[in-house]
Amino acid sequence: MEYIVEIKDLSKDYETGFWRKKKVRALDGLTLNVRPGQIFGFLGGNGAGKTTTIKILMSLLFPTEGSAKILGSDISDVSMHSRIGYCPENPYFYDYLTANELLDYFGQIFGYDTAKRKQLTDELLTAVGLEEKSRSRQLRKFSKGMQQRVGLAQALVNDPEIVFLDEPMSGLDPVGRREIRELIVSLREKGKTVFMSTHILSDVEALCDEVAILRGGRLAATGSLSELLSTGNEQRAFELLIGGVASEQMRNAVSGINGAKVLTKPAGTAIEVQNESDIDAVIAAARTCGGKIISVNPVSLSLEDLFVEAKNR
Ligand SMILES: Nc1ncnc2c1ncn2[C@@H]1O[C@H](COP(=O)(O)OP(=O)(O)OP(=O)(O)O)[C@@H](O)[C@H]1O
Ligand SMILES: [Mg+2]
Repeated sequence: MEYIVEIKDLSKDYETGFWRKKKVRALDGLTLNVRPGQIFGFLGGNGAGKTTTIKILMSLLFPTEGSAKILGSDISDVSMHSRIGYCPENPYFYDYLTANELLDYFGQIFGYDTAKRKQLTDELLTAVGLEEKSRSRQLRKFSKGMQQRVGLAQALVNDPEIVFLDEPMSGLDPVGRREIRELIVSLREKGKTVFMSTHILSDVEALCDEVAILRGGRLAATGSLSELLSTGNEQRAFELLIGGVASEQMRNAVSGINGAKVLTKPAGTAIEVQNESDIDAVIAAARTCGGKIISVNPVSLSLEDLFVEAKNR
């Protein structure tokens, strides 16, 4: 199977207003393919159409136009649902069940016997980092982050081949985010595919093999992170960090270098040059002032730049 998710010309109009006369186009001709075995980041600002796309893929919403396939089956074929997992943006469960009971219930839906359900419940709640003492408490007493963890555990009950996670890190504290990151990476190690929407760019940089960036319901960019971050970057700028010398003195020393930018940073004075060939001149200037070279780094386009660019395009 070349693609595990194939989205073709997908559009969605929400009908709003009195008599549902007004139409809001949330998704506009989205075409996108996802290869199996990777962590795919589905990016976009608020209202870009991420949740709408995921809900259409889960058959919770009907598309206005277009089609999509998961695991080679059309999304209208719900038998494929036994092979996929889904954690919604704001997981909401039966308030009066405990975490243990909820997972047991989902295990029953998939027809597992009591022993298997018990083992799975323990395994999954441990994997998502839900403390043992919380597992027998009612879900209505759970914090946002705890609910998010239960939502993730629930998405993995049937050992799915692909899981769709809508903002899996929302509501988690830094420790929780790290735990969930590790869980997501372990899924990839088991050969699973993870399709996750997010706008936390550091998570994307740490986790995702490929990404798609949505803007106003349209695809603004797609590809591997390294590909996307290197485009338009042929002529690279470099940043030199110089210590042990006052910024003003460095500013004067490099004033003859065309396009050199000077910035005072906590660790020293940063000098950005537009050409690799200017690096030597900056080093020479720093030496004459008695400065120490701390580092020389290429300035690469950050994911944040790319995200903002995609938003403004
Ligand atoms: N039920 C609805 N009725 C009308 N409009 C809707 C509805 N749900 C979403 N929209 C609109 O569709 C667009 C896309 O929303 P969607 O929730 O898919 O965005 P998102 O990318 O998930 O955003 P966020 O990052 O805030 O979760 C938005 O303009 C939103 O206002
Ligand atoms: Mg959303």
